[in-house]
Amino acid sequence: MNILLLGSGGREHALAWKLAQSKQCDQLFIAPGNAGTLQYGTNVNLSITDFEAIKKFVLEKGISLLVVGPEEPLVKGVTDFFRQDEQLKQVAVIGPSQYGAQLEGSKAFAKKFMIRHGIPTAAYREFDESNYEEGIPYLQQHALPIVLKADGLAAGKGVLICQSHVEAIAEYELMLHHSKFGDASKKVVVEAFLDGIELSVFALTDGKDYVLLPEAKDYKRIGMGDTGLNTGGMGAVSPVPFADAAFMKKVVEKVVEPTIRGLEKEAIDYKGFVFFGLIKVGDEPFVIEYNCRMGDPETEVVMPRLKTDLVELFVATDKGQLNTIKIEQDARYACTVMAVSGGYPGSYEKGFVIDGLNNPLPADSLVFHAGTTQKNGDVVTSGGRVLTVTSYGNTVSSAVVKSREVLQHISFEGMYYRQDIGFEFE
Ligand code: AMP
Ligand code: GLY
Repeated sequence: MNILLLGSGGREHALAWKLAQSKQCDQLFIAPGNAGTLQYGTNVNLSITDFEAIKKFVLEKGISLLVVGPEEPLVKGVTDFFRQDEQLKQVAVIGPSQYGAQLEGSKAFAKKFMIRHGIPTAAYREFDESNYEEGIPYLQQHALPIVLKADGLAAGKGVLICQSHVEAIAEYELMLHHSKFGDASKKVVVEAFLDGIELSVFALTDGKDYVLLPEAKDYKRIGMGDTGLNTGGMGAVSPVPFADAAFMKKVVEKVVEPTIRGLEKEAIDYKGFVFFGLIKVGDEPFVIEYNCRMGDPETEVVMPRLKTDLVELFVATDKGQLNTIKIEQDARYACTVMAVSGGYPGSYEKGFVIDGLNNPLPADSLVFHAGTTQKNGDVVTSGGRVLTVTSYGNTVSSAVVKSREVLQHISFEGMYYRQDIGFEFE
């Protein structure tokens, strides 16, 4: 079958790599893709939110499977657009309806969903213009630190952890009255701070059954030892050593199953990934957030560990037959180390030539491109996160060491990567 994958990051390179391995994949198109996805298919210069243009392309190329990488098209309703169009409704779409995508697109929606289904999450209240005044005394008496979240999508920046009441009230006012995050902060969720260790768990669901994919831990901070500014993610490891069988059983029973049952009970059209952003407090899992897509860079370790054919999984998802599928995983660790542009996550320059991409790779390492593009025969940087190297190993550290060795032979001006991904597992 012909497949169209939307997105252009490391996640999409990893998905393209995996899709292309399937016997069922005829032509693979990636819109807009990057210099890495070119190895597995054809990049198409389409906007991921221009649904009419996507429609035209899908019809022209006889696409029968649309895989949506990032959240934005889902939150804007690409799945509904396909389902409601006479010419497109036969196309399998991997990604929830606009209503279902609110699990990521609205923090308040996600919190209410969790409360309805008894899913463990931090205590919270939501505020907007109508109850703005009530928020001030609520914040004044709230235990520190206080977590403030813009309700809507804010490019990963909408969560603030405030260490004082004065700071929390100032930020609250900025969010609600001064559009700190634009429309996304017209509503604010105030929640209790949870102290624990984070991990990402992924399910693929057809709306009634699900399969669990390998779990992962990502490293969000720019600096060594998890210090400095938050980024999109500087590396990831899978499996997660502290997520042992007993803990994962709790995750399944207390979080994953109630979520999928909740989707089914509420008849939410949801055929796609559910990304559970979890925090382990003591021995208990709590949900920090849901995403309606795979994580990045988690996908760059999850796909390499997934042995099951991804197209087969997506077809079963579309047909509502995930109950017939058993996932096979590679038992080894997969770890990825992300190389970023100098200055990231602040401002950075683009357009630097990347050297070393043609070096032969060790058998157990993979390079996934993120912010790269092809220019005059060179591969040049085109984003903050530029490329990531995933390696397999029998331990976290042996995998990470291999990725760092590969990175030593790749270079571009200003290149930076963390030397300590997986540090707490050594
Ligand atoms: P989110 O955008 O929801 O993923 O939140 C960004 C980051 O904020 C998370 O990865 C956590 O590190 C942190 N965070 C969010 N909510 C909480 C919470 N209730 N307690 C502690 N940390 C939190
Ligand atoms: N790595 C976290 C995310 O994709 O949201």
